[in-house]
Amino acid sequence: MKYSWNVACESMRLLPPAQGAYRVAMTDFSFAGYTIPKGWKTFWTVHSTNKNPKYFPDPEKFDPSRFEGNGPAPFIYVPFGGGPHMCPGKEYARLEILVFMHNLVTKFKLMKVIPNEKFIYTPSPVPVEGLHIRLLPHN
Ligand code: HEM
Repeated sequence: MKYSWNVACESMRLLPPAQGAYRVAMTDFSFAGYTIPKGWKTFWTVHSTNKNPKYFPDPEKFDPSRFEGNGPAPFIYVPFGGGPHMCPGKEYARLEILVFMHNLVTKFKLMKVIPNEKFIYTPSPVPVEGLHIRLLPHN
């Protein structure tokens, strides 16, 4: 289900479920002209790269083909984090997402009841009205 996973990845690029995570600096280091002292808490964000046109041209466009072939370079697209603390639930989440998508798109047609519903961050993105959808059987 490569194409379905590319669609899921593109959805998570535009609206990542997790915003990032904390790290503690193990040594003094410099980044982008700033000195981060040992012991400081830092927060890396998924958003730093996923809407950067340098890595994702025309970043607001929904385009699952971005993930074809080798896809983005390592550590450019990180909805599940990276390194030793990368999300251990990634493969389980992938399975659940694909099973859900398969059943939804093969059995139903769906229409959003509120077309331009906004999202709030809690800190995960949540549709403000609860994402009401109208399900119709697939012909
Ligand atoms: C779409 C679904 C999910 C997303 C986007 C997601 C995202 C993330 C992110 C960004 C992190 C931080 C990684 C880092 O610090 O480098 C994380 C950590 C973690 N996730 Fe997930 N996750 C998902 C599903 C799951 C599931 C299904 C499980 C368990 C069944 C899970 C268990 C964990 C655990 C235990 C950690 C902490 C890992 C550590 O600090 O060593 N996640 N996740």
